Formats: sequence, C-alpha cells, structure tokens
Amino acid sequence: MAKSYDICIVGGCGHVGLPLGMAFADRGQNVALYDINEPVIAKVNKGVVPFKENGAEEVLGRVVKSKKLSATNDSKVVADSKTVVLVIGTPVDEHLNPKVSEIIRAVKEIQDYLDDDQLLVMRSTLFPGVTDKVAAYLKKQGKKTLVAFCPERIVEGHALTELYELPQIVAGCTPEATKRASDLFKILTKKVIVTKPVEAELAKLMTNTWRYINFAISNQFYMIANASGHDFYNVYNAMTEDYPRLKSFAKAGLAAGPCLFKDTMQLSAFSGNNFFLGHSAMLVNEGLPGFIINAMKQKHDLTHSTVAVLGMAFKGDNDDPRESLSYKLKKNLEVEADVILCHDPYIKDPRFVSLDEIKKKADIVVVATPHTVYKDLDWGDKTVIDMWNFYGKGGLV
Ligand SMILES: NC(=O)c1ccc[n+]([C@@H]2O[C@H](COP(=O)([O-])OP(=O)(O)OC[C@H]3O[C@@H](n4cnc5c(N)ncnc54)[C@H](O)[C@@H]3O)[C@@H](O)[C@H]2O)c1
Repeated sequence: MAKSYDICIVGGCGHVGLPLGMAFADRGQNVALYDINEPVIAKVNKGVVPFKENGAEEVLGRVVKSKKLSATNDSKVVADSKTVVLVIGTPVDEHLNPKVSEIIRAVKEIQDYLDDDQLLVMRSTLFPGVTDKVAAYLKKQGKKTLVAFCPERIVEGHALTELYELPQIVAGCTPEATKRASDLFKILTKKVIVTKPVEAELAKLMTNTWRYINFAISNQFYMIANASGHDFYNVYNAMTEDYPRLKSFAKAGLAAGPCLFKDTMQLSAFSGNNFFLGHSAMLVNEGLPGFIINAMKQKHDLTHSTVAVLGMAFKGDNDDPRESLSYKLKKNLEVEADVILCHDPYIKDPRFVSLDEIKKKADIVVVATPHTVYKDLDWGDKTVIDMWNFYGKGGLV
C-alpha cells in the first residue's frame, strides 16, 4: 500500500530529530515527526522552533507551510512511512550505565507498525551492540524490517549546516539496509562512510569521548597553573601561537551537556569500567566547579559575598540547560556563599535575575557560560572569575 510519508522520525521534536526532519523536508521529502511531548508538537506545527538552533525558524516556517513536515503524537504515522528514524534520548542511569532497555522499549512501542518493506534507522547514540540487538529482536518477532545505525554527529546550534556538510556514517545490519540508508542520507550529504553497526556505535562514542578528554586536558592544565599561582592563559597563548600541532587545544571551561559526559561513561561501561582515561576526564571536568570555589575561598570571604553565575546553558550561545555544570556550580556555591544570583539570556527561569541586578548586587561574577551577549559588559571593579578567558584579561582565580 502506498505510504503518505517518506520519513517518520520517532523522537522527532527533539534537538536531533527536529533539525533532521526539517533538513529532509527542505530537500523535498514528506516528513512526519512522531513525539510524545504534546506542547512541543503544538509549537512545531505552528512553525515555532522549541529551542535555539541557527537558521531554524526560517526553514521550519517554510516546511510547515508547504506541508512537507508535520508533527503528531499518533504512533500510527510510523506505519504510513517508508523509512522510520528513531532518535530518542539515551541517557545513562544512576550507575552511569546505558539504559539499553529504554531503546528496546521504544522499538517495542512501534513494532506493530513496522513492516517488511521499511527501513528502521537507529540514530540515537547507542551502546555498542544495540543496533544488532534491535535487528535480532525484530527478526525474532517475524519482521523483515531492514535495520541500520546512522549516528548523528552535528553539534547543537549548527545542525542545519552540518547535516549537509558532514559525511554520514552508515552501518546496515545487512547489505540491503546499508544501501537503503546510504541512499537516504545522500539526499542530505555527498559522502557516506560505511562500517559495521558496532564499529559505527564505537565511532560515535569515541568521537564524543575524544572531545570530552580534550576538554579535560585543558581543564587539568588550567587547575595546575592556577594552583601554583600562574595564569593558565599566559601559558596557553605561548603554547598555541603559530603552533599548528596545538590547533585543537581547547580553552579551559565548564565542559558538560547532554552528550559528552554520558557517552564517555557509556564507553567506560562498554570497557568493563576499565577506561581509566575516560573516568579521569570525568573527574577533572566535573571537578572544575569545586576547584573554582576552593580557589575563590582562598582570596575572598564567600560567606559575606554575593556571587553571580553568568550563563546557565551547557555551552555558549545555546539555550540547553541539560547537564550544565553551571547548575553544579550554583549548588556548590549555595553551601559556601551568602547570596547566589543566576542569569541566562536564553533560559527562562523565575529564579534568575537581570543583568542590572547582578551589576548592582554582585561582589564576584563567575563567567560560567560564555554567551556572546556578555562580551561587551563592563564589570567595573567587581572580581570576575573567567576560566574561559572570555574577556581576554586572563583566567587566574
Ligand atoms: N543533542 C545533540 O546535540 C546530539 C548530537 C548528536 C547525537 N545526539 C544523540 O541523539 C539522541 C537524542 O538526543 P536529543 O538531544 O535530540 O534528545 P531530546 O531529548 O532533545 O529529544 C528526544 C525526543 O524524543 C522524544 N521521545 C522520548 N521518548 C519517546 C518515545 N518513546 N516515542 C516518541 N518520542 C519519544 C522526546 O519527547 C524528545 O522530544 C541521543 O541519543 C543523543 O545522545 C544528540
């Protein structure tokens, strides 16, 4: 029977699903977004982008108007689509282990709508082996649905350029699944790279882990320099100026968010918790808020200080608060400081205060998230803790 949609995205209103759906729709595909978040579905169908993503308003307006894209909470839409892409969240549990059962549960929820002519693309970041497990599960149910893993590698905020520019890793469980998935992603990008599913799962986890470890190196060096009374950025600048081999040496700063931490922990779980480098990176990155507070305590009487946390999103120019270390900084400060004031230009929270209030009341300002809009602010004679060297005046606490 003819299907109404080329592509259905399960988890389609999320940070990965929505830009992906928009990109396919903008290339002429009929796209259905299936999600369980009703308020967000309503927004998307009105052409309102529910989070900050560069260039998204214009594209969403266009594809909603042309009816190339629509969102629904009716899972039957899965049955009416040639290809199904599954991209729900894959957090780790309280033991820092993957919640594999949630992915299997999501597949079980839609399995009655899957048929033998469809391709199921797994796009969530998966624990190694899960794609093959999904394929085996469906086979056991008597389904011949093709299964492939095609990891998402965009960085939040830049999806609508990177989806077209990055090569797509494609890993089918059968040659036919690889062919179908390759043809699908060639709608967006020129280059596909073919691997086995487990290799692609490892490639995605290792990519995020590599970045997380890189940030940890900078943060560890920052702490070493600071603890001995030296400004890390004098060292950093000397190291990186006209020195191509250190191009990827990141600045120090709070490194967290919904992906890097949990994917490093997934890789660690995969290695039987013997991934010392990954765990060390976690200790370093997660330890930075505590280090900053301890260093502040050496120089300031925090019990009589009002401390402002500038930026609550997990990274600059973004509105995503998920797993942001700004919140850990705030929580730790609550034990030490007299008053904590928080601000973010993109996250609405009644507990946050205005920049004017911070200017009036704060003794110490910590640049937690380097949003560009903070760049031109003049903090006068306030103490500014700037681990990113955002203001170019050094990062010494
Ligand atoms: N955020 C990123 O930049 C990024 C980048 C690359 C890969 N990833 C990976 O992509 C996956 C999704 O991440 P995200 O940031 O888009 O998460 P998200 O929470 O923003 O989106 C997930 C969406 O799935 C929906 N959902 C949850 N369970 C569902 C179900 N059973 N049926 C239908 N819809 C359901 C949620 O309502 C939500 O809208 C994760 O595995 C993540 O690691 C994320």
